[in-house]
Amino acid sequence: MVYFINIQNGINFVLLKDINQFKTKMNDLLFNAIKKRRSYYSISDQSPVSDEEIEDILKECLLYVPSAFNSQSTRVVLLLHDNHKKLWEITKEILRQRVPEDKFQSTESKMNAFAAGYGTVLFYEDQAVVQNFQNQFPSYKDNFSIWSNQASAMHQFAIWIMLEDRGFGASLQHYNPLIDQAVQKEWGIDSNWKLIAEMPFGLPDKYPEDKDFLPVEDRILVFK
Ligand SMILES: Cc1cc2nc3c(=O)[nH]c(=O)nc-3n(C[C@H](O)[C@H](O)[C@H](O)COP(=O)(O)O)c2cc1C
Repeated sequence: MVYFINIQNGINFVLLKDINQFKTKMNDLLFNAIKKRRSYYSISDQSPVSDEEIEDILKECLLYVPSAFNSQSTRVVLLLHDNHKKLWEITKEILRQRVPEDKFQSTESKMNAFAAGYGTVLFYEDQAVVQNFQNQFPSYKDNFSIWSNQASAMHQFAIWIMLEDRGFGASLQHYNPLIDQAVQKEWGIDSNWKLIAEMPFGLPDKYPEDKDFLPVEDRILVFK
């Protein structure tokens, strides 16, 4: 039996001759995708894939990323093209009201850098779903909003990795709750949806600088 793997962003096809070699390769690919993920702040408005493929990534992640009690409270909004640019224009104008004038220049450059990308994923959690589960399972009442945030984080991580696997660079931003109302109004978002994070993405212009790692031995306990 011969196995083929289609690798994005590099060698197109690898020929693997047996199932063990195939499994090792698949493990490496997953591990490398996790290791490779970084925060990209310098991005452009090009896309290595079609808009439909970006949509598919979001749909697959929504379907297959887990949530507490399988509650599926996560919602995402994909803003592309002018909608993406509009988001960062709105954010810039809201920040202009708040940031002292002499400090605004760096804020503006930051907003322009996000706007220079291809799109933004907005991560929401549907509070109607959270409340419904709180009512259904009162003994876990306090946990549901924590689990909902954790489910959102799982979606963020999965989508971040998938976007980078397709050749994008992405970062994770938190201009909520400042921008919540304006965004809700602009795109007619359900009032039960709570904005958790914003992920601008685009074609990477510049690779991020190396980052520091704490000694991993200090962060793990193993009992055998
Ligand atoms: C929960 C969480 C919140 C974050 N919030 C922000 C943020 O608001 N703005 C930002 O620029 N980066 C944010 N980041 C990105 C981190 O600063 C970044 O992941 C970290 O410094 C490691 O760098 P790397 O992503 O390049 O590996 C966040 C990351 C996580 C996991």
